[in-house]
Parts: sequence; structure tokens; C-alpha cells
Amino acid sequence: MIDEQTILQIKERIDIVEVVSDFINLKKSGSSYKALSPFSSEKTPSFFVSPAKQIFKCFSTGKGGDAIEFLMLIDGLSYVEALKYLAKKYGIEIIENSKDNYLSTDNSKKESLHIILKKSVEHFKKSLQSHEGKKIAYSYLKERDFDDEIIEKFDIGYAIDKWDDNYNHLKNFGFKKDLILDTGLVIEKNKKLYDRFRNRIIFPIHNVSGKVIAFGGRTLVDTSQPKYINSPETILYKKSQALYGIFQSKNEIRKENKCYIVEGYTDVISLHQKGIYNVVASSGTSLTIDQINLIKRYTSNITILFDGDEAGIKASLRGIDMILESDTNVRVILFPDGEDPDSYSKKVNSTLLSEYLINNEIDFVTFKIDLLKKITRNDPLKKVDTIKEIINSISKIPDTLKRSVYIKESSLKLEIDESILISELNKIILKNNYSSKKIKTLEEKKDSKKLISIENVISLQEKECIRILVNYGTSDSNFSIDRLSFIKYFLNEIEDVKFTNKHHLSIIECFRDSVLNDKLLDINYFLNHDDKNLKNEVIDLLSSKYELSENWIKKYKITTVEEKEILKKASLNSVLRLKFRLIQKMIENNIQLLNSDNLSEKEEKEIISDHQKLKKIEVEIANELGNVTTK
Ligand code: GTP
Ligand code: MN
Repeated sequence: MIDEQTILQIKERIDIVEVVSDFINLKKSGSSYKALSPFSSEKTPSFFVSPAKQIFKCFSTGKGGDAIEFLMLIDGLSYVEALKYLAKKYGIEIIENSKDNYLSTDNSKKESLHIILKKSVEHFKKSLQSHEGKKIAYSYLKERDFDDEIIEKFDIGYAIDKWDDNYNHLKNFGFKKDLILDTGLVIEKNKKLYDRFRNRIIFPIHNVSGKVIAFGGRTLVDTSQPKYINSPETILYKKSQALYGIFQSKNEIRKENKCYIVEGYTDVISLHQKGIYNVVASSGTSLTIDQINLIKRYTSNITILFDGDEAGIKASLRGIDMILESDTNVRVILFPDGEDPDSYSKKVNSTLLSEYLINNEIDFVTFKIDLLKKITRNDPLKKVDTIKEIINSISKIPDTLKRSVYIKESSLKLEIDESILISELNKIILKNNYSSKKIKTLEEKKDSKKLISIENVISLQEKECIRILVNYGTSDSNFSIDRLSFIKYFLNEIEDVKFTNKHHLSIIECFRDSVLNDKLLDINYFLNHDDKNLKNEVIDLLSSKYELSENWIKKYKITTVEEKEILKKASLNSVLRLKFRLIQKMIENNIQLLNSDNLSEKEEKEIISDHQKLKKIEVEIANELGNVTTK
């Protein structure tokens, strides 16, 4: 448990832009910041952070909240863990009030597993420095030229050659057997429990925020055993989402605006030791979409480091096409025959290594063309396959300009007429798009139908009203009318409007209460509200995409004695104007719908009836709007 005073201290210190920036690249956009959503794979940014309101909102997934919630979502942290993370970030000391804290039943399962893994890392690190560890494991690391600083940076440890050393260590802390089993560190067989990792060098795998979520263990002896054993998937470790080195490298990836991808643990470690800090490992498998999206939080320049054997390269070519699809700039670096990044970095000094990386980097499509051309030689049949293969890669690239540049290059290198390549490319694109497009248009139709319903019009209008109330009722704006009068006026204005959304009703109720008690509400009142759904609705309203009211403020910011009157008119005006615009759009859509093919008689009747209702509302609003503006 963390005491209230400390929680307050942490909350006061939080800057959501700083917190979010540790995980994704934010770009300034007006008064807020935006980025590609870390919660979905999207091509246009719909993730917004508002420093003024200290909230984030992701329009593609609907997720939103304060900095603490962001941490909980992005890293699967519990509330307490998020607070601890922030305390650490801002150098605020947390006093834990119980010695046996790590055994507390308050801990979520994830938290408990994190603690067990942390205790294990400490144990493995200690074992590395023990008599046995020094003799067997530490000496091995030294032989491979890993210095103490790098061993510490990557938390490298050693699991001693005993069946149940770590298990006993954990049991002595009082952790329950089932929890220990759930970490994947211990295996149960014939009712007996034994350590998964024995007599192995331990490479802990961290998540983005630096928590250990799994381990890789390397043998020290060449036997029939596999060279590496890895943790199984657990609730903390999803193999397809983890990247070895992401925690140690993420800041440099952002700074350098580039991410090197290597194959193995030792490649990452060796490159770090040689001053290349922007590198992660896929750990022997081909990259997944989730891993690419993780990298894309920091950069869209990905460079893959290949060992110098041709078979391995050919096998991974297909996997790389997927990276092209993600709209990143993919480049490759080929190491000399028989070398991997680890071995090569041991042969040269830092300067030469950096130079090698810079001088040998080539664009992936170019690389692929050259490679396949070399393999194909002069066999015409193979050449056809090569062309198809390359055009297929190019078809994955979302950017049309990039595509046409590559087509030009392919045409030159493969000595094939550009127009033939273009027609081949179009064929593939059409084929790929056909199935997904078909589904899309069906969905779009459904959507437009939904938009047209009168209920929907009303709910949008309702939302806009409440949006104005929440935005201008929770903070002092530039109007000279005071906030309380504004709220009173607004409440009065909507007195006879029947609101349907229960959250909107609650919000109105909150404001009514506050007016009765002569007290003002600020945003935090809603952001700290117990009702999660209500809170989310408010976040939604605060980060609404409509910027209507901004214009409205600019337009009516006139310093005259009559300002109060103008504000009142303006607020009503703005609501009406929006209603009017919405209705016009609805009418337009409705007419379009009427023109679509294959309407049943019943559907047609419905549309016409909707049309009449909409027209009636339009006239009503127009009249009212006329009254407001001309009065
Ligand atoms: P060193 O040989 O010590 O330099 O390790 P490395 O990390 O360079 O290993 P290697 O290049 O052989 O393999 C690359 C990655 O594939 C490793 O880091 C592991 O993640 C994975 N890997 C290699 N061998 C095995 C294995 O036997 N089992 C499993 N599960 N993974 C392996
Ligand atoms: Mn290696």
C-alpha cells in the first residue's frame, strides 16, 4: 500500500506528455500532441495527448484516461505498479509500510509473478558471483569479452547446476507453489518440481518499462541439449510481443530514429558494448506484427542485420515483406560470410563497426532485387519467378510514390519494360484488395444507415451540448462571464431538453448539485470519479474531435460590456448551428441512400419517412437559429 500523501505528491508531479513519450513518439499538433496509436496498427495518427487536460485519447480504440491509466494499458501494470513506476521516474520515495509486502494478498497475480521473477533475477545474478558461478559462468562471459558493465546492464546471471536451487530459494520467501509454476521458471513432473533453467547463463527478457517478463538460458557445455532454453508463454510473457533489448535500447532507437534488428541475445549485448545502443533481437524467429508495432512507437526506420549465409537470408525474405506492409523504411546490412553481429563486433573497434553499419546499409527492395538476380543468373524461367517475387514485395508497400520509385529501379535492374511491371503490380494489388474491399463497403453501408437514424441525430446533439457544458463548466475560459453564471445559464437553457444518455444525465446532475452548493467542479472531479464509464464519457467529451467551440471562442471574444449577453447567445447559437449542420448532413445522406440500388419497398418507405422527419427538424432549427442571431 502507498499512503495518500505520496499518491498526491506523485499525481502533482506527473506530466502526461513526459510519461507517454517514454513509450511512443509524440508530435506537437496545435495545443495537443498526437501519435500513431500504440493500441492498434494504424496509418494515420488518432492518438491524442492533451497537456492542458492531462489526458490521452485514442480514437481508433476508444481508450482514454490519465497518465496512470496509460501506464496500466500500455504495460499491463496494476494501479499500484503504475504509481511505483511514476514514483521511480520522478524520484519520489515510496515508504512501503509492511515488511512482508511482496506476499500481500492485495497483489494482483501479475504483480506477484513480477515479484517472483525479480527475486529470481537477483538470485541468478548472485549465483553468477558465487564460487561455482565465477568458475563456470562468469569466466565464460569473460572469455566472450563481456565486461562487467554490460553484464550488469542486461542483468545477466547464472542458474547453478542443481535441480531445485531457484525453486527452493523462492519457496524460502514464502511464495506459493502455484504462483511459482505460473512464472514458467519451475516444471512439475511426476509430482516433483524442478528448475527449468539449470547450469545455464541466464539472459533476462525485459518489457518496455524494464520489468523482467521471461528468461533465455544458454548452455555452457556442448552437449546434445539445445543451445538455448526459453521461458514458456505466461500471463506476463507473450513471445510474439516481446523484443529482447527493447528496454535498454528504446531511448536510443528514438534518438537515432532507427532500430537495428539482430537475431540473438549475444548480438544485442555485443553491439551495446561497442556503442551501438539502438538494437533489439527477434530471438531466432521471424518478426511479428506486434513486434513491428512496438518498434514503430519509436521509429519507422528498421534495419535488419543479416548473418553472412545465403540460406538464412533467403528464408527470412518472406518475413520481411510483412515489415514493408507496415509502412516503415526497411533496410538491411549483410555481414561478411560466416560472421554475425556478435562475432564481427569482436573483430573490429567501435569506429570501424559504426562505419561498417553506415557503409553497408542498403534498402531492402534493392537488396532483394540484387540477391534474386544473383541467384537467377541467366535462367529465363527463374527470372519470371524472381520478377513475380519482387513485384509481390513492392505491392506490400502502402506508399504509392515509393512503389513507383521501386518499379523504376526494378525495371532498370531486371531489364524489363516498366509498363509490364506496372501492369503486373496492379494485378496483384487488385487481387489483394478485392476481398478486403468487399467487406469494407458492406460495413460502410451499414454505418451510413446507422448515421441516418433520428435517434442517432439526437444522441449526437445531446453529446455536443454536454461537451460544451463539461469543457467550459470545468475550467475558466477566456470569457469574462464567470463560470458559475455560465453553468447556471446553460442548465437553464437545457431545462426542458430530455436527455437520454445516463452518463449525460449524471453529468448534468453533478453540475446541478455543484450550483446548489455554490461550488465549482474541476476536471479532476470527473477524472477521479468512481464510475469508470462516466469518467470515460467525460474523457471522450474533453477530447472531442470537433473544434467548433475554439472558433466560437475566437469569434465571440469581444471585450464589451455586453459580453455576458453575447456569450449566452453564442453558446445557444453554437449548439443550434451544430444541430443544423448535422441535420443537413443527415438529409444529404438520406437522399443518397434513396438513390442506391436494390432497395426494398419497405426500406424506401422508411427512408422517405425519415426524410420528412429530418426536414421538419431542419425548419424548426432554422427558425430558432434565425431568432438567436437576429435578436
Ligand atoms: P551465441 O551462439 O552464444 O552467440 O548465441 P546467439 O544468441 O548468437 O545464438 P544464435 O545466433 O545461434 O541464435 C539466435 C537466437 O535464436 C538466440 O538468441 C535464441 O533466441 C534463439 N535460439 C538459438 N538456439 C536455440 C535453441 O536451441 N532453442 C531455442 N528455443 N532458441 C534458440
Ligand atoms: Mn551468435
